[in-house]
This record gives sequence, C-alpha cells and structure tokens, in this order.
Amino acid sequence: MSEEKGRTERLFFALWPDAEVCDALDQAGGKLRAVCGGRQMRRNNIHLTLVFLGNVEISRIDALRAVGDGVVALPFVMTLNQLGWWRHNRVAWAAPDAPPEQLLALVNQLQDGLRAAGFAFDDRPSYTPHVTLLRNAHCEGVEWPVFESREWAANEFVLVRSVTREEGATYEAIGRWALHS
Ligand code: 2AM
Repeated sequence: MSEEKGRTERLFFALWPDAEVCDALDQAGGKLRAVCGGRQMRRNNIHLTLVFLGNVEISRIDALRAVGDGVVALPFVMTLNQLGWWRHNRVAWAAPDAPPEQLLALVNQLQDGLRAAGFAFDDRPSYTPHVTLLRNAHCEGVEWPVFESREWAANEFVLVRSVTREEGATYEAIGRWALHS
C-alpha cells in the first residue's frame, strides 16, 4: 500500500468506438493525413475524451471508480459528420456537428461526481467533443476529403490510462460502465 503512495497514472474518461466506427475513423485519418500531413492516431487509440484527469495518484483510483459507479446515463447514438482542424494545437478531428444531449449530460454527471469527490480535471467552459485523428497536422487551405457520416452507438464509457512507450502513448481501459435506461 505504502509503495503506491505518490505514484500516479495519466487517466481520462472516454467513449471507445466499436470496430466498424473505428475502421471508418481510421480510414478518414488516412485520407486526412494524405492532405494535411502530421501523425495519425493509431487505430487502437482512437477515442472520444469525456473528461481528462491528467495524473492521478494510484491510491485515488478506487475513488475514481466510485465516481463511475455513480453515473446513471442513457445510451445514445452520435452522428459523426464533420472533419476539422484546430490551428492552435494542430489537431485534425472528426466530430458530430450537433453533440447529443445525452453525451453532454454524461459529461456533466462525470464532472459533478469528480468535483464532489475532490478531483481536479480539465473543465474548459465549452466542452467540444471530438475524436483526434491527426496530431501536428496542417490543414489550412486543403481540399477536405469526403467523409461519409457515421453513426456511433454509445453503450458504455471507460476509464483509460495512458502509458507512454517507445512507440508512443498506449491507452488501456481500466474501468468500464454501461449506459442504460
Ligand atoms: P486531444 O486528442 O484533443 O489532444 C488523452 O490525452 C486524451 O485526453 C486526448 O483525447 C486529449 O485530447 C484529451 N485531453 C483533454 N484535455 C487534455 C489536456 N489538458 N492534456 C492532454 N490531453 C487532454
């Protein structure tokens, strides 16, 4: 127990796509990379962040799981129908043009639970749901590839730890919760 004191993990809550959505996003990332350059997100890492926690002491992970346990949120379908690029962080992404209410409600519940449990997290005033496809991309003035809109059925959310390896960050789900009515 005492060995764990002070050790941290880099954590975030996320939605993970099923294989079909993942394939579609991976293909979109490949097409985008052909015009924008940059580094494509590895297929196994494709996700949508709900709340980014950053470094959390390992001894606090049970409390974090309890926050997940306390969430009561409905499943929903999200239509990914937009590709875009942010100049400030050079991230190219896919996103829904209209984030579902249930997605925003899920994020709000997580944030409320985290606050109540005393966790610090990234709570920018406007949560902008997106799936990062490229990093270090330059998409200014490019001809955007065709992106067929894609339905993502969200039935669960996950707590993920990010492990930095030689080949880059690897994400591992360490908790999983169903969305249900
Ligand atoms: P991004 O893809 O837009 O960079 C793991 O780093 C995940 O947490 C990524 O999806 C990342 O979003 C997201 N994230 C949100 N806020 C972050 C922050 N302050 N630092 C690093 N990642 C953050």
